[in-house]
Amino acid sequence: MQFNSLLAVIVVLPAVLAQGTNWSQSCSGGFLTGSGPSLSLQAVCKTNSGANHTTTLGLSSCLGNSNGNLICQRGGAAFQSCGSCSLGVPNLTCNCPTTSGAGHTTTINTNNCIGNQNGNLFC
Ligand SMILES: *[C@@H]1O[C@H](CO)[C@@H](O)[C@H](O)[C@H]1NC(C)=O
Ligand SMILES: *[C@@H]1O[C@H](CO)[C@@H](O)[C@H](O)[C@H]1NC(C)=O
Ligand SMILES: *[C@@H]1O[C@H](CO)[C@@H](O)[C@H](O)[C@H]1NC(C)=O
Repeated sequence: MQFNSLLAVIVVLPAVLAQGTNWSQSCSGGFLTGSGPSLSLQAVCKTNSGANHTTTLGLSSCLGNSNGNLICQRGGAAFQSCGSCSLGVPNLTCNCPTTSGAGHTTTINTNNCIGNQNGNLFC
């Protein structure tokens, strides 16, 4: 019984946690690193005590491809299909295939779904 309750908490928790926002307001120097499915965002973010902390977040864990448009979606795996990305903080522009396979240029404001939690980027 106790084990089952504990398991339920562990499984449910990530879906309940508030989504991160506005990372660029407390982080500096955001740039893209990695490629393909491991495309990542790296920045220097303030910890709660005001120190600078270098942090990297895999963007496939935060963004999805919805018919050619980048959307905020935990575990969305956008970079299984999207590529040719550029970052003009906070906007990420990529080429994402539509469901019919056509290339589509799409931009998302990463501040809508990525935040800074004590020096670490999260979504
Ligand atoms: C994020 O920034 C926007 C624009 O400055 C602001 O309207 C919004 O309240 C902020 N959200 C949070 C959670 O701080
Ligand atoms: C943190 O980094 C920013 C940007 O490079 C810099 O202006 C600031 O002085 C640094 N702060 C500390 C506490 O090191
Ligand atoms: C990001 O996109 C928003 C909305 O399209 C735009 O107003 C803003 O100027 C863009 N910022 C940058 C740095 O490109």
